[in-house]
Amino acid sequence: MIGLFDALARPVLRMLDPEDAHRLAIRALKFPPFVKLVADDTRLAVRAFGLNFPNPVGLAAGFDKHAEVPDALLKLGFGFVEVGTVTPVPQIGNPRPRVFRLNRDQGVINRLGFNSEGADVALRRLAARASAGGIVGVNIGANKDSADRIADYVRSIETFAPVVSYFSVNISSPNTPGLRELQHAGVLEDLLARVVDARARMSRAAGTTPVLIKIAPDLTLNELDDIVGAARRHRVDGMIIGNTTVMRPQGLRDQTIAREAGGLSGRPLFALATRMLAETYVRVEGAFPLIGVGGIDSGDAALAKIRAGACLIQLYTALVFHGVRLVATIKSELSNVLHRHERAHIDELVGADAAAITAEKWPV
Ligand SMILES: Cc1cc2nc3c(=O)[nH]c(=O)nc-3n(C[C@H](O)[C@H](O)[C@H](O)COP(=O)(O)O)c2cc1C
Repeated sequence: MIGLFDALARPVLRMLDPEDAHRLAIRALKFPPFVKLVADDTRLAVRAFGLNFPNPVGLAAGFDKHAEVPDALLKLGFGFVEVGTVTPVPQIGNPRPRVFRLNRDQGVINRLGFNSEGADVALRRLAARASAGGIVGVNIGANKDSADRIADYVRSIETFAPVVSYFSVNISSPNTPGLRELQHAGVLEDLLARVVDARARMSRAAGTTPVLIKIAPDLTLNELDDIVGAARRHRVDGMIIGNTTVMRPQGLRDQTIAREAGGLSGRPLFALATRMLAETYVRVEGAFPLIGVGGIDSGDAALAKIRAGACLIQLYTALVFHGVRLVATIKSELSNVLHRHERAHIDELVGADAAAITAEKWPV
């Protein structure tokens, strides 16, 4: 059924402006086709951040920005869904057009700039489904015109703690001027201290909601040292590596579109994001788990992320090019790998290649 839905919808969606196509996909998910849920292979189940994930394949932030369809997305087979980025106050983001497909490179450039219906709307939707089960995290960001951006994150922790499975603290979107400066050492210390403190204050009412930070793939290794150091000191629960890149890797074929400003995602991001994941893994030394994101479009790519250090993965852009059946394909390919290599569980492979990857030539 999912395959049929995909086959019919994708050619139509690909003819539309990417943002219109996305809107249509969200609308369609409000009336999802009846799908009989197939139980996941128990060897793919992951326990991380105190949560039990039925499988490691998650939907990355940015697809369901306003928390409209998390349960339909879980029904499509994702092991977890990250809604957002949500900003405290509604904002419209940058002028359109602001999403561009690089068809030949299987990439996307976006400069949406945190278009968000705001925290009140997202809270209402998340509260209405809070007892539905399934792992739904919220990615939180700051308003463009905020006078105190750290206060925005604190406010979102207070708002959403009772209704979400985890927080992804987004300090890595390239499309809100100055946002990524929150990754710098001094400011980050302050941000993490206040966020972790807000989480502790909420824990009596909401339990201890895991806090993850989502970083950019464009950091220097010195910056990464500082971030991992701060994350360990403040005992965050995990890191997500990473967001879109402002780099334009060599060899892109859609050269004209590649000149659009914004963050690049999809296949051209894979090598850089995987390298940064491995670099993070060797620095974290097992202190907390990592989520690997960026250019995953096959079972092999998912496996490579896991071997680079991810215990969970997320994807978005590949859905544009491969449709939602990709989720089932990745899960079945991961199961096949375990069978072929006589491994009892996917977690045996986490980080197996991390050290070797950090010794490779830097991807360009
Ligand atoms: C159109 C679009 C919108 C996105 N919006 C967000 C967002 O709001 N917050 C965020 O943290 N990441 C956002 N992302 C980044 C993704 O979550 C992900 O980190 C990145 O695209 C790399 O994964 P992918 O190559 O599988 O797409 C967005 C990506 C795309 C393509």
